[in-house]
Amino acid sequence: MATDYYEHLFGVRGKVALVTGGTRGIGLMIAEGLVRCGARVYVASRKPEACQEAESTLSEFGECVAIPSDVSTIAGCQELADEIAGRESRLDILVNNAGLTWSEDIDKFSEKAWDKVMDLDIKGPFFLIQKVLPLLRAAARPEQRASIVNVSSVNGLKPSGLRNYSYVAAKAGLNQLTAQLARDLMDEQINVNCIAPGPFQSKMTAPLYATPELEEQVRAGFPMKRWGAVEDAAGLTIFLSSRAGSYLSGVVLPLDGGATNI
Ligand SMILES: NC(=O)c1ccc[n+]([C@@H]2O[C@H](COP(=O)([O-])OP(=O)(O)OC[C@H]3O[C@@H](n4cnc5c(N)ncnc54)[C@H](OP(=O)(O)O)[C@@H]3O)[C@@H](O)[C@H]2O)c1
Repeated sequence: MATDYYEHLFGVRGKVALVTGGTRGIGLMIAEGLVRCGARVYVASRKPEACQEAESTLSEFGECVAIPSDVSTIAGCQELADEIAGRESRLDILVNNAGLTWSEDIDKFSEKAWDKVMDLDIKGPFFLIQKVLPLLRAAARPEQRASIVNVSSVNGLKPSGLRNYSYVAAKAGLNQLTAQLARDLMDEQINVNCIAPGPFQSKMTAPLYATPELEEQVRAGFPMKRWGAVEDAAGLTIFLSSRAGSYLSGVVLPLDGGATNI
């Protein structure tokens, strides 16, 4: 039947997924798509209240458990991995989405602005992968490869006018780390890919749509004249983590409505 074939190609039903920063913004969009498609999804972020809220919202669509965690430290990554290992024997999908940005004039750019971004946007993803590798290995099979999806940014592909120095360095690093890990984990049946989002509405981009007039002006500059939507973020993650995307590893895909390449 057509629906069976659709599930064969794009299905993530029954898979176990972890989405960092899954309590709001792009992470919540990705988590929602995975839950709605039948995956059992763990979301992680620092604030317990945000975790509770996301868990209760997403549980209306399917299975979701939120685990308060700080993935900017190695200890936090280990604790999160231990929590998942206490509940699951395998992890099919890891989405390294949690991230933050910091913009400051070059003359004033501080060590704190450098370290905070580096800790969350590049150190965290590497060490979380390291800590959950046993679970990813337990899920990985030639006919159903495990999937790591790193979330970088179009700012890691080309310079912006934002003076976000540590962010562009971290995101470009994450793009390259993706390729290296894809190579190193190839024979272990684990795919590693990267999504580089363009503009999505979230706390991070809220200043860009602070008033309806500003939003309209900003949106007019986007090639597709629209922001990224739930379907865009969730759809690409599901594609990369399903049979349909299984032949891709080590790629960085701009999810930006054409902003980078046209
Ligand atoms: N929005 C865009 O247009 C855009 C464009 C390009 C790239 N991106 C990338 O997409 C990803 C998501 O961005 P977003 O715009 O959705 O950001 P956001 O709205 O600020 O959400 C960030 C998420 O990460 C969590 N988080 C922050 N620090 C954390 C930590 N130390 N440990 C665990 N979780 C933490 C936050 O929850 P807590 O506060 O509870 O920890 C929140 O759930 C980021 O990697 C960002 O760089 C976004």
